[in-house]
Amino acid sequence: MSCPLIRVQGLTKRYHQRLVVDHLDFEVRPGECFGMLGPNGAGKSTTLRILTGLTPKEGGEVRLFDRFTNPADPEVHRRMGVVAQEDNLDDDLTVVENFLVYGRYFGLEESLIRSRVAELLEFAQLSERRDSAVRTLSGGMKRRLVIARALIASPELLILDEPTTGLDPQARHLIWQRLTALKNQGTTLFLTTHYMEEAARLCDRLMIIEAGAILAMGAPQALIAAHLEPEVVEIRPRHPPLDRESLARLPGRLEQAGDTLYCHTLDASEVMAHLRGRHDLICLSRPAGLEDLFLKLTGRELRD
Ligand SMILES: Nc1ncnc2c1ncn2[C@@H]1O[C@H](COP(=O)(O)OP(=O)(O)O)[C@@H](O)[C@H]1O
Ligand SMILES: [Mg+2]
Repeated sequence: MSCPLIRVQGLTKRYHQRLVVDHLDFEVRPGECFGMLGPNGAGKSTTLRILTGLTPKEGGEVRLFDRFTNPADPEVHRRMGVVAQEDNLDDDLTVVENFLVYGRYFGLEESLIRSRVAELLEFAQLSERRDSAVRTLSGGMKRRLVIARALIASPELLILDEPTTGLDPQARHLIWQRLTALKNQGTTLFLTTHYMEEAARLCDRLMIIEAGAILAMGAPQALIAAHLEPEVVEIRPRHPPLDRESLARLPGRLEQAGDTLYCHTLDASEVMAHLRGRHDLICLSRPAGLEDLFLKLTGRELRD
């Protein structure tokens, strides 16, 4: 089997005596899309900042491309594209100029950069905006530009910190499509997100972390099957608050988040039969998903 591109063992990091990365063990394998899923403050960016050489680790081992233990090694930087959480574009420069500055920073020849730019603009669907100042681009366009720019040196591994946070659904779908295309071309992806749908769509495997520690790791569907009943009925009161008492005997495992009650069950139709005639409620049955898994593992809602 080919070697992992990232291998992390017992990784720790503390801020003000508090462990924000708490003995992480994971690996990112060639060709896969691996996701790091967790609420705000879980330690996702800190982990990525360690892996990209922006902040030192405290304890544990990091091994990149089966060879490097120092993430700041220049060869690591050539082989690893990085998309930070905040867009770090130069607002006053044009789209093309941003590529040129970035490519020079990597020490690439001007002619090589220029030949890559046309292809990357096409990839990012920004060819028509090549001479626009960055500050005139939409949020989605800026994000696509940051992703395309990270590809300037043709990295085999692309690391993305919350690639679609803050974007509207259309812009988000376009980025998902671009990332899927990259993966299909053989680029390995390691991304963080707090969007369950994003993780479910893109990731071959993922880990759910909270307070710097891993709660679960595996392929999305396998994780759901291992931890959850297959179906969920979501129950909301037409006029809150929820009267939980009257629903205590539903045939399933009950979890509440806000005014919504989730009934996890082997058979949603049985639950729906119990709810017949309850016109005070809005009931919806659906298959269990990653969001349910997250709620089960953490016992609470995602924080934005
Ligand atoms: N430079 C820093 N100094 C002090 N605390 C930090 C610093 N960076 C992050 N933290 C804290 O570490 C925790 C994890 O942060 P972060 O890795 O940014 O989480 P995430 O990316 O999952 O939202 C948070 O509680 C955050 O406040
Ligand atoms: Mg973050």
